[in-house]
Amino acid sequence: MPENILITGGAGFIGSHLADRLLEKYHHVKIIDNFSPYYSPQLKHQNINHNKGNPSFEIIEGDIKDKDAIKTALKDTEIIYHLASQPGIKTSVDNPQKTNDINVNGTLNILNQMRNTGIKKIIFQSSSSVYGKVKSLPFSENEQKKPVSPYGVSKLACEHYVRVFSELYGFKMTIIRPFTVYGPRMRPDLAIAIFTKNALKNEPITIFGDGNQTRDFTHVNNVVDANIRAMTKGDAETFDIGTGRAYSVNDLIEKIIKITGSASKIIHTDKRQGDTQNTLADTSKAKKILGWEPKISLDEGLKDYTEWFKSDPNNNI
Ligand SMILES: NC(=O)c1ccc[n+]([C@@H]2O[C@H](COP(=O)([O-])OP(=O)(O)OC[C@H]3O[C@@H](n4cnc5c(N)ncnc54)[C@H](O)[C@@H]3O)[C@@H](O)[C@H]2O)c1
Repeated sequence: MPENILITGGAGFIGSHLADRLLEKYHHVKIIDNFSPYYSPQLKHQNINHNKGNPSFEIIEGDIKDKDAIKTALKDTEIIYHLASQPGIKTSVDNPQKTNDINVNGTLNILNQMRNTGIKKIIFQSSSSVYGKVKSLPFSENEQKKPVSPYGVSKLACEHYVRVFSELYGFKMTIIRPFTVYGPRMRPDLAIAIFTKNALKNEPITIFGDGNQTRDFTHVNNVVDANIRAMTKGDAETFDIGTGRAYSVNDLIEKIIKITGSASKIIHTDKRQGDTQNTLADTSKAKKILGWEPKISLDEGLKDYTEWFKSDPNNNI
């Protein structure tokens, strides 16, 4: 069992849950994160505060684009989970250069530095956004990719770089493509976070478009499970990680309103540029090769998230 694990973006939403799970399994976990101001750095510190002081947990405050910071982070690392990125479809439409600099150049910096180390494997967090326009649902891993946002393009470019470097330099790799992730600590810019916050305050909930767009909403624990399995399985493979069930945004809001007992009104505005119409994962490959399956349904997951959100006023900043 590998001991020394590096998580880039380890103070973020998914990365901090992954760190918790790896620490439970007695690994030594190092994270590198620049606590980017894309959303409140205070939330990111809250995500990892409980692990500070744990001798098996190490924090490097640094940027994945910085050669020296990555060199330090990679020292003694056996497995790297690469999650640091500039997320957000809208950000990528507004500022594609920034998304490319962090996602593509940052990833390339990591891969370049990995060449002279003893790292055994990289597990790269891609995204369902690589698919974009598809002919039919569900998406499946070998489908032709036609991203509809610069963010999707950046993730697809990273996937290719990870594969090519793995082939050139002999380290193993697995690519995880999570579908619309939600749950405790989720990014405040994501739809479920915004809808829940407004619902609890009985404030209007705004939907971009008619609300008939569908998503495969995936609880963060399901995504962490897949990442843990990818440590020892699924070499040279790519996996869709969703639930295999899609809900429309209208259905999602109905569920949130019911769970929160909200009196919020629904407002519709224009559809946003860069958003995909529908997403749905075909999870059969992950089931077969990783032995993984999603365990948390949308109803259970939304209750879990709402309880977490209400449990501490600091979760709402
Ligand atoms: N949340 C989702 O729905 C979702 C879906 C698909 C894929 N993903 C991918 O999963 C990964 C984690 O996403 P998340 O939702 O946890 O996002 P997040 O923003 O909460 O986490 C990313 C972390 O990376 C850090 N970071 C950003 N730029 C950095 C840089 N230059 N150097 C070092 N650290 C940097 C941020 O401070 C943050 O803590 C990302 O790669 C994202 O693209 C997320």
